[in-house]
Formats: sequence, C-alpha cells, structure tokens
Amino acid sequence: MKYYLTTPIYYINDKPHIGHAYTTIVSDILAHYHRLRGADVFFLTGVDENSLKNIEAAEKLGMGDRIQEYLDMQSALWKQTWDSLGITYTDFIRTTEERHKQGVEKFWKRVRENGDIYKGTYEGFYCVGCEAFIRETDLVDGKCQHHDKEPKKLIEENYFFALSKYRERLLAYIEQNPDFVQPQSRRNEIVNYIRDHLEDVSISRQSMKWGIPVPGDPEQVVYVWFDALINYLTGIGYGWDDELFARYWPADLHLVGKEIIKFHCALWPAMLMSAGISLPARVFAHGFFTIDGQKMSKSLGNAIDPVEIAKVHGMDAMRYFLLREVPFGGDGDFSYERFSKRYESDLSKGVGNFVSRVLAMAEKMVSGSISEKMEPDTIFSQGISDQVGDDSIHERVQEVWQEYEETFDRIRPDEALDAVWRLISFGDKYIEEKKPWAILKGNTEEYTKIIGILLELVRHVSLLLYPFMPETALKVWRSLGVEEPHKEQYLAKLKEWRAVPITKIERGEALFPLNPKP
Ligand code: MSP
Repeated sequence: MKYYLTTPIYYINDKPHIGHAYTTIVSDILAHYHRLRGADVFFLTGVDENSLKNIEAAEKLGMGDRIQEYLDMQSALWKQTWDSLGITYTDFIRTTEERHKQGVEKFWKRVRENGDIYKGTYEGFYCVGCEAFIRETDLVDGKCQHHDKEPKKLIEENYFFALSKYRERLLAYIEQNPDFVQPQSRRNEIVNYIRDHLEDVSISRQSMKWGIPVPGDPEQVVYVWFDALINYLTGIGYGWDDELFARYWPADLHLVGKEIIKFHCALWPAMLMSAGISLPARVFAHGFFTIDGQKMSKSLGNAIDPVEIAKVHGMDAMRYFLLREVPFGGDGDFSYERFSKRYESDLSKGVGNFVSRVLAMAEKMVSGSISEKMEPDTIFSQGISDQVGDDSIHERVQEVWQEYEETFDRIRPDEALDAVWRLISFGDKYIEEKKPWAILKGNTEEYTKIIGILLELVRHVSLLLYPFMPETALKVWRSLGVEEPHKEQYLAKLKEWRAVPITKIERGEALFPLNPKP
C-alpha cells in the first residue's frame, strides 16, 4: 500500500509565512498518519523557481545578473525552514533542477505529439501576482482582484494548449469520481468554471528571459504554471526514474490552497489526459488564513513567521493551533491572543495536565511512596478489568479510533483532533469520578486497576496525537518506556487495548509549561 501526497511548490520571492506552513504542516500530519498505518509514503514538497515574481525579487536585490544564485539562496532558506520545523518530506523538488527540466521536455513533446499544442497570438492581460493570463472581465476597476494591481498588457506569439477540447472529459471525470475535488463546495465551483469558462490557454512566454526553453523553440520559455504542475511527476521520477514513478503515481492527494484550484482541477487533469497519464485520486483545497482579520501581505507587513512561533511555543503547539482553530477547508484567522488562550486551556491545562496527573499517581506507586513498591508493568497489567464500567472504557477508545480513521479518510484532520480531545476530557472525568486518592485508603487493588487503565488511556492519547504532535508523543513514550511505532507494529496492532507493555514510569518535564521561555 503506497500513499503519495504533495504540497504546492511555493514561489520563493520571500520567506515562508504561516499560510505556507499551514499546507506543509497538514501534509506532514497526513504523511505521519499514513506511515502509522503502514503505508509506503512519498511526501513531496518543493519550490517553483521559474516565476517572474522570483526574478523581480532578485532584481530588486540587485541580483538581476545572478538569478540562479538568488534562487539557490532562497530555495535553501525554504528547505531549511521545513527542516527546522521537523517536516518529514521525502523529497524537495526545485524546478530549475535538471531532472525537472527533462521531465517537462518529455511531457511537452507528448502533448505536442497528441496534437494539443498550437501556435497563436496572445493578446490580453497577465498578472504577475497570480502568474496567470487573465480576462478583462475578471478585472475590477482595471485591477486584478487578488493583487489590487493593474496587470501587464501582453501581445505575444505563444504556444497554446487545447484545453477547451477536454471540457466534456473533465466534467465526466469529476462526475464519475466524486472524491476528486474536495471539499464539495469547491467541486461545484470547478464544475461551473469548466462548463462555462474553459478556454485554450497560452503555455509559453516570448518575452521572459528565465525559464525552461520550449522544446524546438528556444526563443520561448514554458509558461510557469505548465512547468510547475509537472513537478508532481518529475518529483517522483518522471523522465528520470521509471521504476520510482511507477511505484508512486498516481498521486493519492494534492493538497492546495483554494486560490489555485482551477490550475489543479482543470488545467492539470487536462494536461495529464493529453499526455496519456492517469489522474490523481484527489485534490483537496483548504481555506486561507488571515491575520487579526486582515489578509496577510508584504505591504501590510503582517506576515507571521512560523519559525518564530515554533521557537517560543514549540512546533507541536503551533501544529495544534493551526489545525484546531480552523475547520479544515474553511477560512480562518490567526491571532496571538487566541493562540495563547488555546495553549493554556487545551495544551497546558488539557492534555499536559492529564498526562502529568496520571504519571504522578503512577510514579508514586513505582517509588513506593504511597503503597508498597510496584513494577510499572504490574500496575499496567492490572488495567484489564472485567468490570462493566471499565470495559466501556475499552470500547470508548475503540470508538475514538474508528472515528479518527474515518476523519482521516475524509481528510478532516481537524475533526480527528476533536475526537482525541473528547477522549482526554473523558480521562479527566474518569479521574474525577473515581477519585483514586480516596480509594487508595481502603483498596490498593482497585486503585492499581484504575491507574493501570489511566496509563493505557495516556498511551492511546499519545498515539492518537502522534501525527499532530510528534515531539509530544515521543516525550510520552519515553516516559512510559514505550517504543516508537516501527515495522510490524503499525496502527492496526497499536490501537488495540493494551497492545504493548508500559515498561517505565517517569514523569519528566511538563509537556506544555505555562509561560514557556523564549
Ligand atoms: N507556485 C504556485 C503553486 C504551484 S503548484 C504546482 C503558488 N505558490 S505560492 O507560493 O503562492 O503558494 C500558494 C500556496 O501557499 C497556497 O495554495 C496555500 O497552499 C499556501 N498559502 C499561501 N498563503 C496562504 C494563506 N494566507 N493561508 C493558507 N494557505 C496559504 O501558488
């Protein structure tokens, strides 16, 4: 079983902000989850280098004559950012790499051989912000709606792709594959677009001095979106490693932001149809983050640096916040105030407190300070209970796992987190109801049983949290002497009640201390 997922490849005219981090983090969460299921995961991310935006940024820095140097520098910055945030990508593709160029050439030739590329004159507008040819009817007061800027007026001899030829095939594909475009609201949007507005598109630029030369016509370069989309193929071997390509294509998921859905759900599948390559299983378009209610932008200077947040609050807290704050697929807002509130209520006083309470009680038993000394596994093995009340705990945990897996199938990791937090609240309530400290006075056996059950609950919570908060899960496993998931010990086994023994109890430092030090 393989799982191939991708992020968009980002423009590198600036450093990554929290919006880019959002897509990359959600992809990382999905990659963790599918690895946990035992899938052979390929998680591709990378950078879109042949963009006019990048060139303009290089020129602004006085590096107009050293563009490759600028791209090398920026691309390293993006890669380092994901590395410092612990993103577990399998490969990082750059579109100036030779392997990518080779793949683009191969792809272009196949589409041309199929009769879908012809020469024509493009007369119209081009917005550099969107890197897109736009229609006059899409302008508002003569400006691009997304970038509030007047687009360039172009008259160029270009190569065109016969996109409109694919209208009916695209509509049929979307109808027959209800999961292809998600969420549902985006599907309606894309169907309307394909039905009513699909036109042939220019796929080359005459006036650009940077980019991949058009095969057979070095006076032109390939239009940046045509080149960029092909990264999803070249990143896994298309044009340079057939075996690798056959192992992972078609993609299981392209995760993108909602603003680039037309490229991914109309142009891209039509390009693939033309080249005779099978289509990806799913494109999921998530919403956009604003900052304190405002669009994130360079001119407003309000872009939030994910590295800064991770430095202060930890990567796991940031991952949690981004996922928890917004229904996945919808838009959301980022504010430091709500970040701090959630940190305190859900992390410090939520999961952090629950884990530390349970470990504190168990630790006292192991050290013998409240009863006779006990081995961790003795306490743990008392957690099997034939009492009706405790059996229902076992069932409850299985229900959570079921819901969790089902939400991941629908790509709703935010809902998976809801289920985990319900289990944490349940654990808290269980402690309050059982009042183990009161039981201890008269019944050590019953006390031990309760602590055994709670320890197993902590193990499940940590495993459920693993895709979202890998560092936290590792800390808990270290406290319990539980191994990391590894070969032959994937989710199917680990999610069982008491699947693996707890061999150690060591409380360690608080998982989410209040007032974390910068
Ligand atoms: N280079 C193209 C993508 C080519 S893919 C074949 C591009 N790059 S981009 O740098 O502009 O990145 C866009 C993506 O970054 C969005 O689709 C989304 O995934 C993410 N986001 C950028 N800003 C965002 C927010 N404010 N909020 C959420 N995600 C955002 O488009």
